[in-house]
Amino acid sequence: MNDKQLVAVQAAQYVQSGMLVGLGTGSTANYFIEALAHRQRDEGLSITTVASSTVSAIKAQLFNLPIVALEHISSIDLYVDGADEITPDKTLLKGRGSDLVKEKLLAKAATQFIAVAEASKLVSHIGQNFSIPIEVMPFAWQLAKKNLEDIGGVGDLRPNAAKDGFWVTSHGSYVLEMSFDKNLDEHTLNARINNTPGVVEHGIFINLASTVLIAQESVIRELKR
Ligand code: A5P
Repeated sequence: MNDKQLVAVQAAQYVQSGMLVGLGTGSTANYFIEALAHRQRDEGLSITTVASSTVSAIKAQLFNLPIVALEHISSIDLYVDGADEITPDKTLLKGRGSDLVKEKLLAKAATQFIAVAEASKLVSHIGQNFSIPIEVMPFAWQLAKKNLEDIGGVGDLRPNAAKDGFWVTSHGSYVLEMSFDKNLDEHTLNARINNTPGVVEHGIFINLASTVLIAQESVIRELKR
């Protein structure tokens, strides 16, 4: 088993019969969906799932996991997802994919949110390895970019895969990828981005992960809040 698989299998051990479980998006979350499906098949675990993306929903359906739509839930028991960066206080950077809004909704709705990752995701501050993905309403992108530049942001619209246009999220937003002064603490940054008109959501997840499972060379470390 590789490290991503290892943390995913470990996270699946937190699931109990009767739970409504949120499925994250990405390669580590995919391993979690598989591990959950194995527990359902082998142990007769009775669970319902809700997906953060079409890709995860399709994977859940392939593995015969019962699935409900996001608009039909008001809370969930457990959410498991990967991350792009993780700080010592368990702030996460997410949103390399197109499903940031659903990911944050599920993270917030969950009684318990377990973030799963390899040790390469550990950083000292948010923005160390990646710029911050900021979803904006398409018509607001230029004004939002200007306001983000006024608070020190540097960056631009995320290009599409063919590099002949702009990336559009599953929610229909554009994504500004902005870097900020590393001395700006994540709470201030979070508040300032939240206060920018036209911003739909962004990739800084503060005070949401209750547990972080980190795997390094086949050893799992658990960071709790
Ligand atoms: C999806 O939008 C992202 O937030 C992913 O959860 C994140 O990029 C982690 O992906 P991996 O598990 O593939 O590293």
